[in-house]
Amino acid sequence: MSKKYYITTPIYYPSGNWHLGHCYTTVCCDALARFKRLQGYDVYYLTGTDEHGQKIQERARQQNMEPKEFVNGLVDDIKKLWKLLDISYTKFIRTTDPEHEAAVQKIFTKLYEKGDIYKSTYEGWYCTPCESYWTQTQLKDGNCPDCGREVKLTKEDSYFFRLSKYQDRVEELLTKTDFLEPKSRVNEMVNNFIRPGLNDLSVSRTSFDWGVKVPFDPDHVIYVWIDALSNYITALGYTSDNEQDFETYWPADTHMMAKEIIRFHSIIWPAILMALELPLPKKVFAHGWLLFGGDKMSKSKGNVVDPFILVDRYGLDAVRYYLLTALPADGTDGTYTNEAFIKKINTDLVNTLGNLVSRTVAMTEQYFDGVIPSPEIKDELDQDFINEIKSIRDKVTDLLEKIQFSKALEEIILLTERANKYIDQTTPWVLAKDPDKKSRLKTVIYNLCESIRTVAVLLRPFLIQTPNKIFEQLGVKDDELIAIESAGQFPPKLAGCKVKKGEIIFPRLKLEQELEELSKLC
Ligand code: MSP
Repeated sequence: MSKKYYITTPIYYPSGNWHLGHCYTTVCCDALARFKRLQGYDVYYLTGTDEHGQKIQERARQQNMEPKEFVNGLVDDIKKLWKLLDISYTKFIRTTDPEHEAAVQKIFTKLYEKGDIYKSTYEGWYCTPCESYWTQTQLKDGNCPDCGREVKLTKEDSYFFRLSKYQDRVEELLTKTDFLEPKSRVNEMVNNFIRPGLNDLSVSRTSFDWGVKVPFDPDHVIYVWIDALSNYITALGYTSDNEQDFETYWPADTHMMAKEIIRFHSIIWPAILMALELPLPKKVFAHGWLLFGGDKMSKSKGNVVDPFILVDRYGLDAVRYYLLTALPADGTDGTYTNEAFIKKINTDLVNTLGNLVSRTVAMTEQYFDGVIPSPEIKDELDQDFINEIKSIRDKVTDLLEKIQFSKALEEIILLTERANKYIDQTTPWVLAKDPDKKSRLKTVIYNLCESIRTVAVLLRPFLIQTPNKIFEQLGVKDDELIAIESAGQFPPKLAGCKVKKGEIIFPRLKLEQELEELSKLC
């Protein structure tokens, strides 16, 4: 049996247009899923949509649509987007799937029967967009502490989840283990939410009906976050007739999300799982926000960049590359601008990577009729370069294990920069003029080809078309030469491969022209 790896994105609200922010988490999870598959893991990658709740019901009403009809269109769109970005998910869950709804009802009933959910009355400050109740002290300047919007004093009958009962265990989980990362988020959760005391959580609503009904009290709809968080186990068949996937893949290895929903994933979700007596996920990893003009990119603020337009114009690998390097690894925010996007593509992918591939392939054609030579004599400069190629696989895999995409890609691009410098230092065109230097020239060209092969192999979790384009140009066909373990290994089989000049991998973009076009399109 191979080792398993279960990774999830948040399930997204289908409430408007999909934007580059949603793509960020999904592409990151995709890179991790691909990386783990390349390492031989049996990967389950889950994504989906969170379709219930008052907000969605209201949006649908505004458009004169039934909620289900309204969300169906948006679900079709997001599936198109994931196809376009070649997202390799195993399952797409919708909270309106009948299997999910049935499982949520069973979960709610189980918790009720156990006494961890009980009925009472709630009076508090209600934030409609967040569907959350707050106490007076939790409010920030009289507004919702999560989204900053207006709250209303509301009173209703409600079911409550005994969150307070799990306070100590949750605190221990956050402070004594590596459950939540980056670590900088732990203090925030502990100081803002746990230490002030966890209140029992209102987990049903009577003010609207677009949601999963409490099975034994159908005036109540199950709180959207209980419904949503459960997706991570219902997708695997928890409580259904077939729990095989649940047995195989639970607990999740990584729940990935942005910082605004850490509280739900690192406090409420573990407490629910504790109440259900289920194993806890191994890691909750929270990244920062992709900002656009200084604001979180979001539908409600209207500052969204349309990923369909970007992929259409620049290709999926350019967009994936941009996203995977867009945010710093420490969980802080990053800003999208069209200019930064075009410049990054030109600098890293056109000038550095693309240039290296075309120069090397051209020299191999020119000096060795396109057949990659076997290395012969080498000097210190060659050895230094060889050492760098050899060490990169461990660096990149280590960074990926730590979920540090931007740093992992930075290492790869550094190696391509280093390779371009190696060309300038070894001046193959000078070596080629001197028959006595032929032996060294073979070494130089071989090393360059190996560096490119290694780069392409290591890019496989991140980019879709580029590694194959590079393998094609290098004439690499053998599976052994594209395996992740082979990166930096200088396999003898590389010598003898016949290179073939292909199309330019990334065409150069004219900055001014692109900015003008994008301002018309976005
Ligand atoms: N439905 C809830 C999640 C339930 S999970 C059990 C939700 N949905 S959402 O549509 O608002 O998606 C939020 C998530 O989308 C973020 O946590 C993040 O993963 C991703 N992002 C949305 N906008 C983003 C940015 N501007 N930047 C980075 N990530 C963004 O919350």
